[in-house]
Amino acid sequence: MSTDSASQGSTSADAPSTDAPSTGTAPSTGTEALGATDVTKRYFDGDSKVLAVDGVTLSIARGELVVLRGTSGSGKTTLLGLLGGLVAPTKGDVRVAGKSLVHLRDHHRTQWRRRHVGFVFQELQLVRGMSLRENVLLPFAPLGGPTKEDAARADALLERFGLAPKRQAGVEKLSGGERQRGALARALVLEPEVLLLDEPTAHVDADNATRILELLAEEKSRGRAVLATTHDPRLAEDGRVDRVLVMEAGKLG
Ligand SMILES: Nc1ncnc2c1ncn2[C@@H]1O[C@H](COP(=O)(O)OP(=O)(O)OP(=O)(O)O)[C@@H](O)[C@H]1O
Ligand SMILES: [Mg+2]
Repeated sequence: MSTDSASQGSTSADAPSTDAPSTGTAPSTGTEALGATDVTKRYFDGDSKVLAVDGVTLSIARGELVVLRGTSGSGKTTLLGLLGGLVAPTKGDVRVAGKSLVHLRDHHRTQWRRRHVGFVFQELQLVRGMSLRENVLLPFAPLGGPTKEDAARADALLERFGLAPKRQAGVEKLSGGERQRGALARALVLEPEVLLLDEPTAHVDADNATRILELLAEEKSRGRAVLATTHDPRLAEDGRVDRVLVMEAGKLG
């Protein structure tokens, strides 16, 4: 299984000095954390072309919780990948934590997104054969491993997410809701400015969906920009959600 997601949110060893402090609380709400200008993704698949994302422009501020809806195939996952620096745009630009990704060399882009973006994939990408705690500590691997303080912070996150009793359990032994919260803990362990989630409540029951929404609202109030795709009306209708964006055929409505 891919472990790429494991490194999401990692701190780059040579991040520029403009780097925000790793405090978990962004300096101020209201300023842009994530932005896109005319971002476009066209897939070429043999003779066929798919315009998955078509000229999307948006700006999400620190401390904002935004939900992205749209029918299946409308381009939500592709847009999330573009915004998180995982998918290269055909055209346009993405800004993460004040830096334009298009002008960065590949390895700098990777370092920047690891440091500033936490990503929770729909399929979670937790690594089987490892404990939950080991999974949550994985983003420290490219940084030479967690320090004692890092590990203590990860344990505090597991505690806050109600996962402390399960931290030594193999991920294959966890429930769907526990896995979802575990993937969220891993995305947050390096305190990224931007949190992107692909259908975070798709595979959990109503109680777990409520818990996940509470955690997302907490992260918003800590100053992170949170963007979640969903087909789940409970998420889109929740009062703590600041904006609902709707995608249709690659465009934002
Ligand atoms: N790697 C790829 N190569 C070719 N086409 C792709 C690729 N990834 C996505 N697409 C196409 O791009 C379009 C948008 O797909 P995307 O996965 O972004 O939609 P979505 O809104 O997330 O759908 P869902 O709600 O089903 O998850 C679809 O037509 C899809 O088939
Ligand atoms: Mg999708």
